[in-house]
Amino acid sequence: MSDTMDTSEMGAPTMRETNDAPEIGEISDAPAMGETMEAPQTDDAMNGRMKAISQDELGGPEVLKLVTLPTPEPGVSEILIRVHAAGVNPIDGAIRETGAFVGQPPFVLGWDVSGTVEAVGPGVTLYKPGDEVFGLLPFPQGHGAYAQYAVGPTRAFVPKPDRLDHVQAAAIPTVGLTAWQALVDTAGVGEGSRVLITGAAGGIGHLAVQIAKARGAHVTGLASADDLDFVRSLGADEAIDYNGTDFTEVVRDPDVVLDVVGGDYPARALDVLRRGGVLVSTQPPTLAPLGEVATERGIRLAGIIAEADQVGMFALADLAATGQLVPTIAATFPLEEAAGASATTDLAASDGRFPLEEGGPAESGKHGPGKVVLTIV
Ligand SMILES: NC(=O)c1ccc[n+]([C@@H]2O[C@H](COP(=O)([O-])OP(=O)(O)OC[C@H]3O[C@@H](n4cnc5c(N)ncnc54)[C@H](OP(=O)(O)O)[C@@H]3O)[C@@H](O)[C@H]2O)c1
Repeated sequence: MSDTMDTSEMGAPTMRETNDAPEIGEISDAPAMGETMEAPQTDDAMNGRMKAISQDELGGPEVLKLVTLPTPEPGVSEILIRVHAAGVNPIDGAIRETGAFVGQPPFVLGWDVSGTVEAVGPGVTLYKPGDEVFGLLPFPQGHGAYAQYAVGPTRAFVPKPDRLDHVQAAAIPTVGLTAWQALVDTAGVGEGSRVLITGAAGGIGHLAVQIAKARGAHVTGLASADDLDFVRSLGADEAIDYNGTDFTEVVRDPDVVLDVVGGDYPARALDVLRRGGVLVSTQPPTLAPLGEVATERGIRLAGIIAEADQVGMFALADLAATGQLVPTIAATFPLEEAAGASATTDLAASDGRFPLEEGGPAESGKHGPGKVVLTIV
């Protein structure tokens, strides 16, 4: 895909003689967090090359560097997308630090894409250049959204509803599909289901609340005190301050718990779920110690990892097109400030938060409700 593989195998055009952009994989001077870097040159001047954020070592946000790479080419059943916005997720930072799933650097992070189809590969009939699409590059091997261009399977994408701009659309795929696949595909949430959602103001949670409500469920969301009104504004029937109230004392017999927090939340969820209920976790390892208790209590455990999924994307797009799914943008950062964006999503579930303006100072592990998104020109 669009990472820094041996470019001689990619058949990409060579740079013009007069182009003094860095050589393939060469790392340019990246700005410090919160600083803006002047765009090096226009697309045309890049002549088959693109700006991307890559890393050649594992580590903190500072390892993310602005580089130029050959623009990837779409293969059979693939489309090349001019990326306008890319979602930033907590897992991106974990992979940045550990290389989990993707191996050793160099690599380009990012899975959430919203953009315009630039070219289609052999056999593609669903899209044509100029179409506006959004979707999830297959996790984990399809990474490469932190770039001006990305290649992905045609059926990972759906048309972007006019109602969403590209930043909003890029905020949806990972967290929206996680919520959809957890609540609908896995737990069968529908009319009258009683659902408890932890981390209800976060990336997954704020879309999960809206999806569950659109399905006709009764929704209780856990959030910190500052976000209770936000969670109610999403449609939650009840919003509980997880710092001030032990949810196990006030929540009774939900059919489904969607846990995005981990720690002791899954074990506590077993104390409130009804027999026959479902506990879905976005952190599958947290369920491992709970199998015996869950079996005794007749509760199904489901650890989920979201998949690229055109059916799910169509469902999310339909909800967005009718105004039933509206992503909240916690902050946007230009591509050149990916390090700052990444810092805000690292351990974003840690204490405290503060409002961020575009290009504003980044503080590790803190962002407001909703999603952090990179904007790319
Ligand atoms: N398996 C998958 O496919 C998949 C997909 C996406 C994400 N994930 C994982 O799911 C988790 C959540 O992702 P996200 O994108 O929603 O993250 P996020 O945007 O950072 O949201 C996390 C939410 O959890 C809340 N939270 C933190 N500590 C809490 C606590 N002790 N009690 C209750 N709520 C707490 C936070 O609230 P405060 O702001 O008040 O702290 C925040 O709203 C991450 O671990 C991520 O890696 C998994």
